[in-house]
Amino acid sequence: MRILIIGSEGFIGSHLVRYFSEAGNTVYGCGIDAVPASQHYTYFRNDKHVPIWEKIFSNNQFDICINAAGNGDVNFSIEYPAEDFKANTFDTFSILEAIRKYNDNCRYLHISSAAVYGNPEKLPVSEDAACKPLSPYGWHKLMAENICREYSTVFHVPVAVVRPFSVYGPGLKKQVFWDIYRKYLQNTTAVELWGTGSESRDFIYIDDLVRSFDCIIQHAPMNGEIYNIASGEESSVKDVVNVFFESMNLRPRLVFNSIARKGNPLNWRADISKIKALGFTNRVSIESGIKQTATWLHSSSLI
Ligand SMILES: NC(=O)c1ccc[n+]([C@@H]2O[C@H](COP(=O)([O-])OP(=O)(O)OC[C@H]3O[C@@H](n4cnc5c(N)ncnc54)[C@H](O)[C@@H]3O)[C@@H](O)[C@H]2O)c1
Repeated sequence: MRILIIGSEGFIGSHLVRYFSEAGNTVYGCGIDAVPASQHYTYFRNDKHVPIWEKIFSNNQFDICINAAGNGDVNFSIEYPAEDFKANTFDTFSILEAIRKYNDNCRYLHISSAAVYGNPEKLPVSEDAACKPLSPYGWHKLMAENICREYSTVFHVPVAVVRPFSVYGPGLKKQVFWDIYRKYLQNTTAVELWGTGSESRDFIYIDDLVRSFDCIIQHAPMNGEIYNIASGEESSVKDVVNVFFESMNLRPRLVFNSIARKGNPLNWRADISKIKALGFTNRVSIESGIKQTATWLHSSSLI
């Protein structure tokens, strides 16, 4: 299969490139940075302000396009809502429009986010629950989902939307594990964290996320439907932070500041029966995933 990964140099995108290349597909990447000449796949260098979507799809034909670009940062969306809208919503429209015009049999897998739910009324939250986003990020992701529905129902572009919960693993240079490890390196005796520690998330390790996308590509109807992507297990922030430091044999004092971060939900646990019905099962336990993440962070000279 010819697979285009938009956002190929990012956290999720780079793992998608690796996975689908190793599986024998012809992978094309698209990003906004220059990539080294040693790169083993065809790479389209995009311009944030003057995107080349039409050029990409009018000159090439793909079987699959996965959009792993966009902004993935809630705080950034609060500070720069217009830029977030452009990256998460308007670019989705422009990509789908280019697919409709030039490559309408290309199956489009859209990465939305669990942020569309906000604080769910009940857990586990299923795909048909009410969406009440708490941030521009969540709202813009929801608008992009509706654009996907538009292109699926009106123009019959084959589309599926995924709502990942908290994805983590090697390469993720933001969010809880990245933040606490950086803080620890600055002060090894005490690490300050947001909130109370009782906030919970549904974590999914990057390798499982990537396999869930493969499962959708292989088995899903792709007629505009939506899938929660998560482990289905709820973990408190305090517990995962403890597991993280224990796996590194470190014992800093944890100081939760009781300040809730704007735009962030309290508790999340996903109903994953829909993706499971396609044949997907999680393989990586939270303990093992955290250990692999800690090992990567420890050996990483990027900090
Ligand atoms: N990481 C998570 O936990 C998580 C959870 C839910 C949803 N998501 C979504 O998944 C997507 C990818 O997230 P990530 O964590 O890999 O983010 P990331 O920032 O690591 O990767 C995004 C990549 O897209 C590139 N990019 C930005 N604008 C582009 C453009 N116009 N054309 C081509 N490339 C562009 C960036 O340079 C970057 O390399 C985002 O849409 C994010 O909202 C992530």
